[in-house]
Amino acid sequence: MRKILITGGAGFIGSHVVRRFVTRYPSYTIVNLDKLTYAGNLENLRDVEGLPNYHFEKGDILNVRFLTDVFKRYEIDGVIHLAAESHVDRSLHNPAEFAVTNVIGTIQLLNAALTAWDGAFQGKLFYHISTDEVYGTAAPGTYFTETTPIDPRSPYSASKASSDHFVTAFNNSYGLPTVISRCSNNYGPYQFPEKLIPLMINNIRLRKPLPVYGEGENIRDWLYVEDHACAIDKIFHSGEVGTVYNIGGNNEWKNIDLVKLLCRIMDQKLGREEGESAKLITFVKDRPGHDLRYAIDASKVISETGWRPETSFDIGLEKTVDWYLANDAWLNHVTSGEYLRYYEEMYKNR
Ligand code: NAD
Ligand code: TYD
Repeated sequence: MRKILITGGAGFIGSHVVRRFVTRYPSYTIVNLDKLTYAGNLENLRDVEGLPNYHFEKGDILNVRFLTDVFKRYEIDGVIHLAAESHVDRSLHNPAEFAVTNVIGTIQLLNAALTAWDGAFQGKLFYHISTDEVYGTAAPGTYFTETTPIDPRSPYSASKASSDHFVTAFNNSYGLPTVISRCSNNYGPYQFPEKLIPLMINNIRLRKPLPVYGEGENIRDWLYVEDHACAIDKIFHSGEVGTVYNIGGNNEWKNIDLVKLLCRIMDQKLGREEGESAKLITFVKDRPGHDLRYAIDASKVISETGWRPETSFDIGLEKTVDWYLANDAWLNHVTSGEYLRYYEEMYKNR
């Protein structure tokens, strides 16, 4: 029996974590706390929302009174903290919002756990979900390990790095049982189409230009989102308190090669002539301070928890494309209104 608070559970990764926990652990109580920003969508959880061990609380991690009440009402004994502003391009437009949500929000949540648990730390865990981007950019041939110095280079990664430091500080200063994991780029169903893969799938579908930043030479290490959720499960249950785990897919792709691959897959699926979608590729002004490469050494989580990525990129991408094509209503819904205005604004000067 556990009573777990999952923050950001209506977002992309959070919804997969919630789904995994409510279905695999029927004896656990799972409380999804989410503010439902543009990135949070309860449609992501429609298939599990009726389960008796699932509860939703709409609210803000910045709201101390609300957090105190949730901890008390559900007798929370574990936290998996995913709520965050998560998009680098948005962080370049509004860094303060990232500091408020990701740094102050995390501190408020840490404080709420510390107060609620009041020194009775046995069986408690505060698990903070972070990102490989806190390590900065990886030189060719090198990989981020858990001891690689933190060197964030965008407002998003700076806010995540800062929140990581506060988590460590609460562990060190107050004995709060914490664990942190830092994962590489995720992809899969329910990802908001401002991130590379769903944005390209959506634009290919609509025959819109495919905006590749710079020359498309930047490299990311892609992991299927359900593999990340599985790693979170393993670390939550058997990770060593007070430590950090890196998670990655050992699957590095240059953006341009990935976009071309998506074009090929979608030409086939949509019955288009080979090469038709690739004609939509448009090189646009680069992202300022664009990190060249992220690359994770995941050997610690593999050797300590037995986790390993199970979904090959071929299969994961195909599943992802199929999901977006089958769920065009979801796509149309999340790309209407506010997002359309954002899209025009973000890409107008590129
Ligand atoms: P997302 O943007 O899809 O979802 C974030 C969720 O947090 C949304 O549901 C949103 O409504 C909620 N939220 C935002 N501000 C909130 C607040 N003040 N109070 C309560 N809820 C709030 O993000 P994601 O891609 O699912 O990422 C989840 C976490 O994983 C983030 O912490 C991110 O830094 C980390 N991460 C993401 C990736 C990736 O590739 N997407 C990789 C590594 C780590
Ligand atoms: P993104 O999905 O925003 O993730 P992150 O920046 O956190 O790694 O972007 C992945 C890569 O794709 C990154 O190198 C930026 C690039 N990119 C484009 O070339 N065009 C786009 O429209 C987007 C959104 C990203």
